[in-house]
Amino acid sequence: MKPFFKEYILYTKPYDPSRIIDELYEERDDWIRLMANENPYPPPKELVEAIAREAYRINYYPQGYTLLKKMLAEYSGVDEDNLIIGAGSMEIIDSVLRGFIDPGDKVAVFTPAYTYYIARITVNGGRSLPIPLEKPWFSYNDDLVLETITSEKPKLAIIGYPSNPVGNMPSPKLVLEIADHVPIVLVDEAYYEFSRETLKDYALSRENIVVTRTMSKAFGLAGARIGYALSNKDIIDYLKRLVNPYGISRLSVVAAIKALEHLDYYKKTIDLIIAERDRVYSELKKYSELMVFPSKTNFLLIKIMLENVKNMHIVLNLLEHRVIVRPVQAYGLDEEDRFFRISIGRRQDNDLFLRVLPNIIYGLGSR
Ligand SMILES: Cc1ncc(COP(=O)(O)O)c(C=O)c1O
Repeated sequence: MKPFFKEYILYTKPYDPSRIIDELYEERDDWIRLMANENPYPPPKELVEAIAREAYRINYYPQGYTLLKKMLAEYSGVDEDNLIIGAGSMEIIDSVLRGFIDPGDKVAVFTPAYTYYIARITVNGGRSLPIPLEKPWFSYNDDLVLETITSEKPKLAIIGYPSNPVGNMPSPKLVLEIADHVPIVLVDEAYYEFSRETLKDYALSRENIVVTRTMSKAFGLAGARIGYALSNKDIIDYLKRLVNPYGISRLSVVAAIKALEHLDYYKKTIDLIIAERDRVYSELKKYSELMVFPSKTNFLLIKIMLENVKNMHIVLNLLEHRVIVRPVQAYGLDEEDRFFRISIGRRQDNDLFLRVLPNIIYGLGSR
């Protein structure tokens, strides 16, 4: 180890999200992507045309943040002073950790937790304090949560509302109780449009709650990297010092503005995705070989209940049918590698998945 490296940064595992996918796409590009909780519907034509026009001005630094902020504030029902934009909610989550964590501080996460949280806690010098959700359904045990928090005294808590990879959420009452005891609480509402539940009003009225949101999921702009946070003015002013002022490209700003001009289109795709999620959930529930977790997001967590069958068996078999799903090794899940996660695609994508799945399950079950 080089003497000038920071130890806690060295111990953080680098995250390379797209390597496997990039390799697959080198072979062919007609894969059905059910692995990254993206919106499967393409953007409206006007959005693509606006990006193409803006490309002629790519020699200039980004602009248009003011309009985008105004539109996002209106969409979220908050004042502009209560909102900050970042390069994906990933940048905002990282900034919150960087802004509030001193080396050695504990950060509560509810496990299984989104692995990005854990990586960013470590890289910012914090220590994660895993609070396990209760098996088999990974539900919140309110008493255990409050007991752990009062005895361990974390500096910050991160709550998926709803969470990735499970897709469930704690009660608002529990979140508020956590906020009564923990100096700062980050409520990650990346899937807000699919859950239709928000703690935004508390983020504005309370001292210490930050809600993060994204345009990557419901607005189908994962490739543009637009996230934002809602909170009281003091916290937003503080975060302004941390977020990269030119973190979002000119093209992404235009894409986000155009998306917000086409809210009706996105509302339709959200309705379709929610209806499909509920349909796929009901179909999967018919298999005694699978445990399917109820979800308030655009994905479903599934556990395989067959002896000696691991998630990779299913994942690799699905790949043969061009369907990419995610084997989940999230922090705090079980050690048996039995979980995988599927994002909800278009009806025809989900139909293909549902059609090939029984053969895979029964093929593996009879090995
Ligand atoms: C719970 C959760 N938070 C945040 C993110 C990252 O979102 P963004 O694309 O806004 O950085 C994801 C992405 O999958 C997520 O699942």
